[in-house]
Amino acid sequence: MWFPIKISAKYISRTYIAWNAYLEVRKIPAVNVIGIQWGDEGKGKIVDAISEDADMVVRYQGGNNAGHTIVIGKKTFSTHCLPSGVSRKKRCLIASEVVLDPRQLKKEIGNLGFEPDLGIDPRTHIIFPYHNALDLAREKARGGDPIGTTLKGIGPCYEDAANRTGIRSFELVKGGKSLEKRIKENFRFKKRMLKHLYNTDVKIIVDKKEVRVREKDVVEQYVEFGKELKKYLSDISMEVNSAMKKNKNVLFEGAQGTLLDISHGNYPKVTSSHPMAGAIFTSVGMPPQKIHTIGIAKAYVTKVGSGPVVTCLDHGKWPVDESVSEQEANYIRERGQEAGTTTMRLRRVGWQDLVALKYTVGINGVDEIALTKIDVLEGLEEIKVAVAYMNSGYEKGYYPAWDTKALENTLPLYQTLPGFKKTLEDGELSPNAQALVDLIEDKIQVPIRMVSYGPERSEILHRYKEAVLYWK
Ligand code: IMP
Repeated sequence: MWFPIKISAKYISRTYIAWNAYLEVRKIPAVNVIGIQWGDEGKGKIVDAISEDADMVVRYQGGNNAGHTIVIGKKTFSTHCLPSGVSRKKRCLIASEVVLDPRQLKKEIGNLGFEPDLGIDPRTHIIFPYHNALDLAREKARGGDPIGTTLKGIGPCYEDAANRTGIRSFELVKGGKSLEKRIKENFRFKKRMLKHLYNTDVKIIVDKKEVRVREKDVVEQYVEFGKELKKYLSDISMEVNSAMKKNKNVLFEGAQGTLLDISHGNYPKVTSSHPMAGAIFTSVGMPPQKIHTIGIAKAYVTKVGSGPVVTCLDHGKWPVDESVSEQEANYIRERGQEAGTTTMRLRRVGWQDLVALKYTVGINGVDEIALTKIDVLEGLEEIKVAVAYMNSGYEKGYYPAWDTKALENTLPLYQTLPGFKKTLEDGELSPNAQALVDLIEDKIQVPIRMVSYGPERSEILHRYKEAVLYWK
C-alpha cells in the first residue's frame, strides 16, 4: 500500500548526514584536528576544547611557522612550537617530522609560567639561524613573485633533512666536539651559498632590522640549547604506539592547512611539510589506522602569502592593499582580526569555497567539520558561498590544486544567502546562520558538529549533541 508522503531529496540527504553522525557514537581513541583551508582556521581553539579529555597531544608537522592563539578568560596563550594542548597541562609531544627552533621553544616555555610535560622525538630536525638567513635570501631573490614565507627557516630546514645534512635533536642533546664540528660545517656551507648565490651573509631579521649572525655565537648558543633540551627527549613513536594499544586518548594536532601541503596544495605557493592526516603515520612512526579526523574550516577563507584563492575579495593582491579590496573583505578582515599570529601580515580574505573544501575533506578523510568564526560574518547583507567553478579548464566541481595558473583564471559560481545580525538566537543558530551551515553540510556531505562563534573557550555550539562523545 502506498502512503502519500512526499520525501524530498534534501530531507533524505540531511537524514543521511544525521544518521552517520549518530553512528559515530562510540569511543574514539585517536582524534586528529587538521586545517582544511590555507591555515589559520582556528585549530588551536578546537584542540583546546577537546583536549580536556586527552591523555596526550601530538604535533606532527611544520614548525614555528604555525601560530595558535587560545583565549582563556583574560589570558591569551600564543604557541608556535608547543602543541596547543599545553594550555591544559597535558603530555605534549613533538614528533619526528616537526622542525624545531629551540630559540622559540625556550621563549614559549619561559612565557608559560609552568614546566610543560613535554616530549621531543630524537629524530626531530633543528632550525638554525642559517636556515632563517637562507629563507630571507631566497624570498628576496624571488623578486616580484615571493611565496610570502614566514621567514622562520622552515623550508631550508626541511631541505637539510632531505639532503641528509640536517642536525637532529638527539645530536644536539648529545653535544660534544662532533656537534660543534657539524654546526660549523653547516654554517660555513650556508655562508658560502649565501655569498656566492645571493651576494649576502648569514643575516636574520631582529626587530625589523637585518643582523649578521656569527658562527661562534651560534655554536655557543646551540650547545647550551642541547643541554636544556636533554630532559625532553623521548621516543615519540614508542610512546604513541604504546598509548594507542592501551586505548589512551591521543589527540593529533595539525599545523597550517591542507592547501599548503607541499604535494597536494597549491605548489609552489605552499609550505614544506604535509599538513594532511596521512602525515601522522610517517611522522610519528606508526602503522596506518583509522583516526577520527576533525577538519577545521572558517566560515569564509583567508590566506597569508601569495597563491591562488578563487573566491578572493582582495583581487588576488599580495601583500594586501586594502584600498583596492572589496568592502566585504575589509569588513571581514577587521572583525576577524585577520592578521598572522606569527608575522602580523594582513591575510587575504574570500568567501567560503566549497569546491576547495570538498577536495581537502576527501584527501584527509574528514569525519566531521568544525566551522569557526561564523560570528565574523554577522552584519553582512548577504553571504556568498562558491559552489562550483567557471573557466578553470576542468569540470566545474573539480579542484585542480596543482594548477595554480588555472586556479588564478577561475571564476567562482556563487550561491548567495541572506546575512544575519546574530549567529545565535536563544542558544540555537539563527535561521540564516542555520541556512549557511546547512548549505555547507549538504554540499560536502560531512556533519558540522561544532560551530565556533567567538574567541572564548566556551563559545562553541555542539550540534548532534548525542553524538559528540569523543572520549567522554
Ligand atoms: P613557510 O611555511 O614559512 O615556508 O611559508 C610558506 C607559505 O605557507 C607562506 O605563504 C606562509 O604564509 C604560509 N604559512 C606557513 N605557516 C602558516 C600558518 O600556520 N598559517 C597560515 N599560513 C602559513
